[in-house]
Amino acid sequence: MDTTDPIPAPDPAAVPATPDRPTPEAVRRMLAGVMDPELNASIVDLGMVDDVRIGDDGLVTVVVALTTAGCPLRHQIKTDVQSKVSGLPGVATVKVEYGEMTAEQKARAMDRARFNAREHAEPTEVAPTTRVIAVASGKGGVGKSSVTVNLAAALAARGLTVGILDADIWGFSVPRMLGAEGRLSGADGKIHPNEVPVEGADGTPTGLLKVVSMGFLVDDETSALMWRGLILTKAVEQFLKDVRWGDLDYLLVDMPPGTGDIQMGLARMLPQAEMLVVTTPAIGAQKVATRVADMARRSYMKVIGVVENMHAFVTPSGERFAVFGEGGGAALAEEVGVPLVAQIPLEPDVSRGGDAGRPLALTNPESPAGSAFHTLATRVVEDLLPPVEMSGCTARILELATANLAASPGPTTPPNR
Ligand SMILES: Nc1ncnc2c1ncn2[C@@H]1O[C@H](COP(=O)(O)OP(=O)(O)O)[C@@H](O)[C@H]1O
Ligand SMILES: [Mg+2]
Repeated sequence: MDTTDPIPAPDPAAVPATPDRPTPEAVRRMLAGVMDPELNASIVDLGMVDDVRIGDDGLVTVVVALTTAGCPLRHQIKTDVQSKVSGLPGVATVKVEYGEMTAEQKARAMDRARFNAREHAEPTEVAPTTRVIAVASGKGGVGKSSVTVNLAAALAARGLTVGILDADIWGFSVPRMLGAEGRLSGADGKIHPNEVPVEGADGTPTGLLKVVSMGFLVDDETSALMWRGLILTKAVEQFLKDVRWGDLDYLLVDMPPGTGDIQMGLARMLPQAEMLVVTTPAIGAQKVATRVADMARRSYMKVIGVVENMHAFVTPSGERFAVFGEGGGAALAEEVGVPLVAQIPLEPDVSRGGDAGRPLALTNPESPAGSAFHTLATRVVEDLLPPVEMSGCTARILELATANLAASPGPTTPPNR
Protein backbone atom coordinates (compact mmCIF):
# COMPACT_ATOMS: atom_id res chain seq x y z
CA MET A 1 0.00 0.00 0.00
CA ASP A 2 1.26 3.40 -0.89
CA THR A 3 1.55 5.43 2.27
CA THR A 4 2.77 8.61 0.63
CA ASP A 5 0.19 11.35 0.91
CA PRO A 6 -0.67 12.72 -2.48
CA ILE A 7 0.10 16.38 -2.80
CA PRO A 8 -3.30 18.02 -2.87
CA ALA A 9 -4.01 20.14 -5.89
CA PRO A 10 -4.35 23.77 -4.86
CA ASP A 11 -7.94 24.88 -4.61
CA PRO A 12 -7.93 28.21 -6.46
CA ALA A 13 -10.64 29.59 -4.18
CA ALA A 14 -8.48 28.84 -1.15
CA VAL A 15 -5.42 30.64 -2.48
CA PRO A 16 -5.25 33.95 -0.68
CA ALA A 17 -4.30 37.03 -2.67
CA THR A 18 -0.63 37.71 -2.20
CA PRO A 19 -0.40 40.78 -0.03
CA ASP A 20 1.33 42.75 -2.77
CA ARG A 21 -1.18 41.93 -5.52
CA PRO A 22 -4.75 43.19 -5.69
CA THR A 23 -7.66 40.77 -5.62
CA PRO A 24 -10.00 40.54 -8.63
CA GLU A 25 -12.68 42.07 -6.39
CA ALA A 26 -10.52 45.13 -5.76
CA VAL A 27 -9.98 45.47 -9.51
CA ARG A 28 -13.72 45.22 -10.12
CA ARG A 29 -14.39 47.83 -7.45
CA MET A 30 -11.99 50.12 -9.30
CA LEU A 31 -13.63 49.33 -12.64
CA ALA A 32 -16.97 50.41 -11.23
CA GLY A 33 -15.58 53.90 -11.79
CA VAL A 34 -15.22 53.44 -15.53
CA MET A 35 -18.26 54.73 -17.36
CA ASP A 36 -19.57 53.73 -20.72
CA PRO A 37 -20.19 57.28 -21.93
CA GLU A 38 -22.93 56.16 -24.27
CA LEU A 39 -24.94 53.99 -21.96
CA ASN A 40 -24.55 56.34 -19.01
CA ALA A 41 -23.53 53.65 -16.58
CA SER A 42 -20.50 51.90 -15.21
CA ILE A 43 -19.04 49.08 -17.28
CA VAL A 44 -19.39 46.79 -14.27
CA ASP A 45 -23.01 47.71 -13.85
CA LEU A 46 -23.62 47.04 -17.53
CA GLY A 47 -22.07 43.58 -17.34
CA MET A 48 -19.29 44.55 -19.71
CA VAL A 49 -16.43 43.18 -17.61
CA ASP A 50 -16.11 39.60 -18.80
CA ASP A 51 -12.99 38.63 -16.94
CA VAL A 52 -10.28 39.92 -14.63
CA ARG A 53 -7.02 38.04 -14.38
CA ILE A 54 -4.19 38.86 -12.00
CA GLY A 55 -0.73 37.58 -12.84
CA ASP A 56 2.04 36.98 -10.31
CA ASP A 57 4.13 39.53 -12.17
CA GLY A 58 1.57 42.27 -11.51
CA LEU A 59 0.04 42.02 -14.98
CA VAL A 60 -3.69 42.60 -14.76
CA THR A 61 -5.76 41.57 -17.76
CA VAL A 62 -9.27 42.94 -18.08
CA VAL A 63 -11.60 41.55 -20.72
CA VAL A 64 -14.21 44.07 -21.74
CA ALA A 65 -17.20 43.12 -23.85
CA LEU A 66 -18.23 46.00 -26.06
CA THR A 67 -21.68 46.80 -27.32
CA THR A 68 -20.37 47.69 -30.76
CA ALA A 69 -16.93 46.39 -31.54
CA GLY A 70 -16.12 49.27 -33.88
CA CYS A 71 -17.13 52.07 -31.56
CA PRO A 72 -14.40 54.71 -31.31
CA LEU A 73 -15.20 54.99 -27.61
CA ARG A 74 -13.39 51.69 -27.08
CA HIS A 75 -10.18 53.68 -26.87
CA GLN A 76 -11.68 55.88 -24.18
CA ILE A 77 -12.81 52.86 -22.20
CA LYS A 78 -9.40 51.24 -22.57
CA THR A 79 -7.47 54.24 -21.29
CA ASP A 80 -9.96 54.69 -18.46
CA VAL A 81 -9.61 51.04 -17.45
CA GLN A 82 -5.82 51.25 -17.56
CA SER A 83 -5.73 54.48 -15.69
CA LYS A 84 -8.07 53.31 -12.91
CA VAL A 85 -6.56 49.87 -12.40
CA SER A 86 -2.97 51.06 -12.52
CA GLY A 87 -3.81 53.12 -9.43
CA LEU A 88 -4.07 49.98 -7.32
CA PRO A 89 -0.97 48.96 -5.40
CA GLY A 90 0.83 45.94 -6.82
CA VAL A 91 -0.27 46.50 -10.40
CA ALA A 92 2.60 46.61 -12.89
CA THR A 93 0.83 46.55 -16.25
CA VAL A 94 -2.79 46.63 -17.31
CA LYS A 95 -3.83 44.85 -20.46
CA VAL A 96 -7.26 45.34 -21.97
CA GLU A 97 -8.72 42.71 -24.24
CA TYR A 98 -11.95 43.20 -26.11
CA GLY A 99 -14.79 40.87 -26.75
CA GLU A 100 -18.08 41.61 -28.33
CA MET A 101 -21.22 41.25 -26.30
CA THR A 102 -23.41 38.30 -26.98
CA ALA A 103 -26.96 39.10 -27.99
CA GLU A 104 -28.06 38.20 -24.49
CA GLN A 105 -25.44 40.41 -22.83
CA LYS A 106 -26.42 43.24 -25.10
CA ALA A 107 -30.08 42.85 -24.23
CA ARG A 108 -29.23 42.91 -20.55
CA ALA A 109 -27.05 46.01 -20.92
CA MET A 110 -29.83 47.74 -22.82
CA ASP A 111 -32.31 46.81 -20.10
CA ARG A 112 -30.00 48.33 -17.57
CA ALA A 113 -29.53 51.50 -19.62
CA ARG A 114 -33.28 51.78 -20.14
CA PHE A 115 -33.91 51.24 -16.47
CA ASN A 116 -31.41 53.96 -15.64
CA ALA A 117 -33.00 56.35 -18.09
CA ARG A 118 -36.50 55.58 -16.84
CA GLU A 119 -35.92 55.55 -13.11
CA HIS A 120 -33.23 58.21 -13.13
CA ALA A 121 -31.25 55.60 -11.30
CA GLU A 122 -28.10 57.64 -11.79
CA PRO A 123 -27.94 59.17 -8.36
CA THR A 124 -26.56 62.57 -9.34
CA GLU A 125 -27.09 65.40 -11.76
CA VAL A 126 -23.46 65.06 -12.86
CA ALA A 127 -23.22 63.43 -16.28
CA PRO A 128 -21.11 60.27 -16.52
CA THR A 129 -19.12 62.00 -19.23
CA THR A 130 -17.98 64.69 -16.78
CA ARG A 131 -14.43 64.25 -15.55
CA VAL A 132 -14.36 64.69 -11.80
CA ILE A 133 -11.28 65.82 -9.90
CA ALA A 134 -11.35 65.92 -6.12
CA VAL A 135 -8.71 68.37 -4.92
CA ALA A 136 -7.61 67.05 -1.55
CA SER A 137 -4.78 67.29 0.94
CA GLY A 138 -3.62 65.70 4.12
CA LYS A 139 -4.14 68.96 6.01
CA GLY A 140 -5.62 72.43 5.69
CA GLY A 141 -4.00 75.69 4.64
CA VAL A 142 -1.84 74.19 1.90
CA GLY A 143 -3.69 76.01 -0.88
CA LYS A 144 -6.34 73.53 -1.92
CA SER A 145 -8.93 76.19 -2.66
CA SER A 146 -6.41 78.39 -4.49
CA VAL A 147 -5.37 75.44 -6.67
CA THR A 148 -9.01 74.44 -7.31
CA VAL A 149 -10.07 77.93 -8.35
CA ASN A 150 -7.03 78.71 -10.49
CA LEU A 151 -7.00 75.30 -12.17
CA ALA A 152 -10.72 75.64 -12.92
CA ALA A 153 -10.15 79.13 -14.31
CA ALA A 154 -7.25 77.93 -16.47
CA LEU A 155 -9.39 75.08 -17.82
CA ALA A 156 -12.27 77.45 -18.56
CA ALA A 157 -9.84 79.80 -20.34
CA ARG A 158 -9.44 76.98 -22.87
CA GLY A 159 -13.13 77.21 -23.65
CA LEU A 160 -14.18 74.37 -21.36
CA THR A 161 -17.17 74.31 -19.04
CA VAL A 162 -16.00 73.61 -15.52
CA GLY A 163 -18.06 73.07 -12.40
CA ILE A 164 -16.65 73.89 -8.97
CA LEU A 165 -18.23 72.20 -6.00
CA ASP A 166 -17.04 73.79 -2.80
CA ALA A 167 -17.29 70.75 -0.55
CA ASP A 168 -15.51 72.55 2.25
CA ILE A 169 -18.93 73.19 3.71
CA TRP A 170 -17.97 75.29 6.74
CA GLY A 171 -14.62 76.52 5.56
CA PHE A 172 -15.91 77.68 2.18
CA SER A 173 -13.70 80.17 0.38
CA VAL A 174 -14.50 79.61 -3.30
CA PRO A 175 -17.11 82.41 -3.58
CA ARG A 176 -14.66 84.99 -2.24
CA MET A 177 -11.83 83.73 -4.45
CA LEU A 178 -13.98 84.04 -7.56
CA GLY A 179 -15.75 87.24 -6.57
CA ALA A 180 -18.98 85.30 -7.04
CA GLU A 181 -21.90 86.25 -4.89
CA GLY A 182 -25.66 86.12 -4.75
CA ARG A 183 -28.06 83.44 -3.72
CA LEU A 184 -28.35 80.32 -5.79
CA SER A 185 -31.52 80.45 -7.79
CA GLY A 186 -33.80 77.50 -8.23
CA ALA A 187 -36.55 76.28 -10.46
CA ASP A 188 -38.52 73.04 -10.71
CA GLY A 189 -37.01 71.81 -7.49
CA LYS A 190 -33.45 72.13 -8.78
CA ILE A 191 -30.72 74.57 -7.80
CA HIS A 192 -28.92 76.54 -10.48
CA PRO A 193 -25.22 77.10 -9.94
CA ASN A 194 -23.81 80.61 -10.08
CA GLU A 195 -22.12 81.15 -13.40
CA VAL A 196 -18.88 82.98 -14.04
CA PRO A 197 -17.98 83.40 -17.73
CA VAL A 198 -14.26 83.23 -18.48
CA GLU A 199 -12.80 85.04 -21.47
CA GLY A 200 -11.05 82.61 -23.76
CA ALA A 201 -7.33 83.21 -24.23
CA ASP A 202 -6.13 84.11 -27.75
CA GLY A 203 -9.26 83.49 -29.70
CA THR A 204 -10.36 80.30 -27.91
CA PRO A 205 -14.08 80.27 -27.16
CA THR A 206 -15.34 81.72 -23.92
CA GLY A 207 -15.46 79.18 -21.12
CA LEU A 208 -17.73 78.98 -18.15
CA LEU A 209 -17.41 78.26 -14.46
CA LYS A 210 -20.46 76.90 -12.65
CA VAL A 211 -20.06 77.31 -8.95
CA VAL A 212 -21.88 75.92 -5.94
CA SER A 213 -20.87 76.66 -2.37
CA MET A 214 -22.43 76.81 1.06
CA GLY A 215 -21.34 80.45 0.90
CA PHE A 216 -24.22 81.08 -1.51
CA LEU A 217 -26.73 79.71 0.96
CA VAL A 218 -25.80 81.33 4.23
CA ASP A 219 -25.43 85.03 4.89
CA ASP A 220 -22.34 85.00 7.03
CA GLU A 221 -20.17 82.84 9.17
CA THR A 222 -22.62 83.17 12.07
CA SER A 223 -25.56 81.74 10.23
CA ALA A 224 -23.20 79.12 8.88
CA LEU A 225 -22.82 78.04 12.47
CA MET A 226 -26.57 77.61 12.76
CA TRP A 227 -26.47 75.13 9.94
CA ARG A 228 -23.96 73.00 11.72
CA GLY A 229 -26.58 70.44 12.66
CA LEU A 230 -26.72 69.47 9.03
CA ILE A 231 -24.75 66.38 8.32
CA LEU A 232 -21.87 67.38 6.08
CA THR A 233 -22.18 64.42 3.76
CA LYS A 234 -25.85 65.29 3.25
CA ALA A 235 -24.93 68.77 2.10
CA VAL A 236 -22.48 67.45 -0.49
CA GLU A 237 -24.95 64.79 -1.54
CA GLN A 238 -27.55 67.45 -2.10
CA PHE A 239 -25.17 69.56 -4.16
CA LEU A 240 -24.63 66.55 -6.41
CA LYS A 241 -28.27 65.52 -6.65
CA ASP A 242 -30.17 68.77 -6.69
CA VAL A 243 -27.92 71.11 -8.61
CA ARG A 244 -28.62 71.34 -12.29
CA TRP A 245 -24.99 71.15 -13.41
CA GLY A 246 -25.77 70.71 -17.10
CA ASP A 247 -23.04 69.61 -19.45
CA LEU A 248 -19.68 69.92 -17.78
CA ASP A 249 -16.31 68.94 -19.15
CA TYR A 250 -14.86 68.91 -15.64
CA LEU A 251 -16.15 69.10 -12.12
CA LEU A 252 -13.55 70.18 -9.58
CA VAL A 253 -14.37 69.44 -5.97
CA ASP A 254 -12.63 71.52 -3.32
CA MET A 255 -12.48 68.93 -0.56
CA PRO A 256 -12.59 69.77 3.13
CA PRO A 257 -9.39 69.08 5.03
CA GLY A 258 -8.90 65.66 6.47
CA THR A 259 -10.18 62.29 5.49
CA GLY A 260 -13.39 60.50 5.98
CA ASP A 261 -17.07 60.62 5.26
CA ILE A 262 -17.10 63.27 2.56
CA GLN A 263 -14.48 61.42 0.52
CA MET A 264 -16.35 58.16 0.87
CA GLY A 265 -19.66 59.75 -0.04
CA LEU A 266 -18.18 61.46 -3.07
CA ALA A 267 -16.58 58.26 -4.31
CA ARG A 268 -19.85 56.40 -3.85
CA MET A 269 -21.89 58.96 -5.74
CA LEU A 270 -19.33 59.83 -8.41
CA PRO A 271 -17.34 56.66 -9.00
CA GLN A 272 -15.48 58.37 -11.83
CA ALA A 273 -13.87 60.84 -9.40
CA GLU A 274 -10.08 60.93 -9.25
CA MET A 275 -7.95 62.70 -6.71
CA LEU A 276 -5.36 65.45 -7.03
CA VAL A 277 -3.35 65.92 -3.87
CA VAL A 278 -2.02 69.33 -2.86
CA THR A 279 0.92 69.65 -0.52
CA THR A 280 3.57 72.21 0.43
CA PRO A 281 7.32 71.74 0.14
CA ALA A 282 7.58 71.48 3.90
CA ILE A 283 5.11 68.83 4.82
CA GLY A 284 6.38 65.59 6.32
CA ALA A 285 5.74 63.48 3.26
CA GLN A 286 5.49 60.17 4.95
CA LYS A 287 2.71 61.04 7.35
CA VAL A 288 0.65 62.77 4.66
CA ALA A 289 1.29 59.93 2.23
CA THR A 290 -0.10 57.41 4.66
CA ARG A 291 -3.22 59.50 5.09
CA VAL A 292 -3.69 60.07 1.37
CA ALA A 293 -3.09 56.44 0.48
CA ASP A 294 -5.56 55.42 3.17
CA MET A 295 -8.14 57.86 1.85
CA ALA A 296 -7.69 56.59 -1.71
CA ARG A 297 -7.80 52.95 -0.69
CA ARG A 298 -10.95 53.24 1.36
CA SER A 299 -12.80 55.20 -1.29
CA TYR A 300 -11.33 53.38 -4.31
CA MET A 301 -10.39 56.71 -5.76
CA LYS A 302 -7.40 56.91 -8.02
CA VAL A 303 -4.76 59.51 -7.20
CA ILE A 304 -3.72 61.19 -10.45
CA GLY A 305 -0.91 63.27 -9.07
CA VAL A 306 0.60 65.57 -6.49
CA VAL A 307 0.66 69.36 -6.80
CA GLU A 308 3.31 71.09 -4.75
CA ASN A 309 2.04 74.54 -3.83
CA MET A 310 4.02 77.40 -2.23
CA HIS A 311 7.13 76.23 -4.03
CA ALA A 312 10.14 78.58 -3.91
CA PHE A 313 9.40 82.30 -4.20
CA VAL A 314 11.31 83.98 -7.03
CA THR A 315 11.85 87.74 -6.91
CA PRO A 316 11.48 89.76 -10.12
CA SER A 317 15.28 89.96 -10.24
CA GLY A 318 15.47 86.17 -10.16
CA GLU A 319 16.50 85.60 -6.56
CA ARG A 320 15.05 82.39 -5.21
CA PHE A 321 13.75 81.81 -1.70
CA ALA A 322 12.55 78.37 -0.66
CA VAL A 323 10.41 79.86 2.10
CA PHE A 324 8.68 76.61 2.99
CA GLY A 325 11.61 74.33 2.36
CA GLU A 326 12.12 71.98 -0.54
CA GLY A 327 11.23 68.56 -1.76
CA GLY A 328 7.89 67.90 -0.03
CA GLY A 329 6.02 67.43 -3.29
CA ALA A 330 8.51 65.03 -4.82
CA ALA A 331 8.77 63.03 -1.61
CA LEU A 332 4.98 62.72 -1.29
CA ALA A 333 4.62 61.77 -4.94
CA GLU A 334 7.22 59.08 -4.51
CA GLU A 335 5.63 57.74 -1.33
CA VAL A 336 2.20 57.50 -2.96
CA GLY A 337 3.67 56.24 -6.24
CA VAL A 338 2.15 58.94 -8.46
CA PRO A 339 3.70 61.73 -10.54
CA LEU A 340 4.47 65.21 -9.22
CA VAL A 341 2.37 67.10 -11.74
CA ALA A 342 2.97 70.76 -10.85
CA GLN A 343 4.99 73.08 -8.68
CA ILE A 344 3.17 76.34 -8.04
CA PRO A 345 5.52 79.03 -6.74
CA LEU A 346 4.74 81.09 -3.69
CA GLU A 347 3.63 84.42 -5.08
CA PRO A 348 1.84 87.18 -3.18
CA ASP A 349 -0.43 87.77 -6.18
CA VAL A 350 -2.00 84.33 -5.73
CA SER A 351 -3.17 85.46 -2.33
CA ARG A 352 -4.12 88.97 -3.52
CA GLY A 353 -6.07 87.51 -6.43
CA GLY A 354 -7.91 85.29 -4.01
CA ASP A 355 -8.86 88.20 -1.79
CA ALA A 356 -9.89 90.36 -4.75
CA GLY A 357 -12.01 87.62 -6.29
CA ARG A 358 -9.93 87.53 -9.45
CA PRO A 359 -7.84 84.39 -9.89
CA LEU A 360 -4.24 85.06 -10.92
CA ALA A 361 -4.53 82.43 -13.67
CA LEU A 362 -6.89 84.88 -15.39
CA THR A 363 -5.48 88.28 -14.44
CA ASN A 364 -1.84 87.40 -15.07
CA PRO A 365 -1.42 84.08 -16.86
CA GLU A 366 2.20 85.00 -17.65
CA SER A 367 3.29 85.40 -14.03
CA PRO A 368 5.26 82.49 -12.54
CA ALA A 369 2.33 81.11 -10.54
CA GLY A 370 -0.24 82.01 -13.21
CA SER A 371 1.67 80.13 -15.88
CA ALA A 372 2.22 77.19 -13.52
CA PHE A 373 -1.57 76.87 -13.17
CA HIS A 374 -1.94 76.91 -16.96
CA THR A 375 0.77 74.28 -17.35
CA LEU A 376 -1.13 72.14 -14.85
CA ALA A 377 -4.36 72.63 -16.85
CA THR A 378 -2.57 71.55 -20.02
CA ARG A 379 -1.24 68.49 -18.26
CA VAL A 380 -4.73 67.57 -17.07
CA VAL A 381 -6.34 68.05 -20.48
CA GLU A 382 -3.64 66.39 -22.53
CA ASP A 383 -2.39 63.68 -20.28
CA LEU A 384 -3.86 63.05 -16.84
CA LEU A 385 -7.60 63.19 -17.53
CA PRO A 386 -8.54 64.35 -21.02
CA PRO A 387 -12.14 65.46 -21.48
CA VAL A 388 -14.49 62.81 -22.81
CA GLU A 389 -14.83 63.23 -26.55
CA MET A 390 -18.31 62.18 -27.62
CA SER A 391 -18.35 63.58 -31.11
CA GLY A 392 -16.43 60.70 -32.71
CA CYS A 393 -19.00 58.05 -31.94
CA THR A 394 -21.88 57.37 -34.27
CA ALA A 395 -23.58 54.62 -32.34
CA ARG A 396 -25.73 56.68 -29.99
CA ILE A 397 -27.16 53.71 -28.19
CA LEU A 398 -28.54 55.61 -25.26
CA GLU A 399 -30.56 57.86 -27.53
CA LEU A 400 -32.04 54.78 -29.09
CA ALA A 401 -32.78 53.32 -25.70
CA THR A 402 -34.45 56.51 -24.55
CA ALA A 403 -36.41 56.76 -27.77
CA ASN A 404 -37.67 53.24 -27.23
CA LEU A 405 -38.85 54.17 -23.77
CA ALA A 406 -42.16 55.68 -24.75
CA ALA A 407 -42.97 52.74 -26.97
CA SER A 408 -42.19 49.76 -24.77
CA PRO A 409 -43.07 49.06 -21.16
CA GLY A 410 -39.79 48.25 -19.48
CA PRO A 411 -38.77 46.71 -16.17
CA THR A 412 -39.60 48.59 -13.04
CA THR A 413 -37.07 46.73 -10.97
CA PRO A 414 -33.36 46.71 -11.75
CA PRO A 415 -32.60 44.01 -14.28
CA ASN A 416 -30.40 41.21 -13.06
CA ARG A 417 -26.76 41.84 -13.63
N1 LIG B 1 1.04 79.79 -4.33
C1 LIG B 1 0.65 80.65 -3.38
N2 LIG B 1 1.33 81.81 -3.19
C2 LIG B 1 0.94 82.67 -2.23
N3 LIG B 1 -0.10 82.50 -1.41
C3 LIG B 1 -0.81 81.37 -1.54
C4 LIG B 1 -0.49 80.40 -2.53
N4 LIG B 1 -1.38 79.39 -2.44
C5 LIG B 1 -2.23 79.72 -1.44
N5 LIG B 1 -1.89 80.91 -0.89
C6 LIG B 1 -2.55 81.57 0.24
O1 LIG B 1 -2.49 80.69 1.36
C7 LIG B 1 -3.67 80.73 2.11
C8 LIG B 1 -4.29 79.33 2.20
O2 LIG B 1 -4.69 78.94 0.89
P1 LIG B 1 -6.06 78.20 0.63
O3 LIG B 1 -6.15 78.02 -0.84
O4 LIG B 1 -7.19 78.89 1.30
O5 LIG B 1 -5.74 76.80 1.34
P2 LIG B 1 -6.71 75.58 1.78
O6 LIG B 1 -7.90 75.62 0.90
O7 LIG B 1 -5.87 74.37 1.60
O8 LIG B 1 -7.05 75.81 3.20
C9 LIG B 1 -4.59 81.72 1.42
O9 LIG B 1 -4.46 82.96 2.05
C10 LIG B 1 -4.03 81.79 0.01
O10 LIG B 1 -4.27 83.05 -0.59
MG1 LIG C 1 -9.92 75.83 1.40
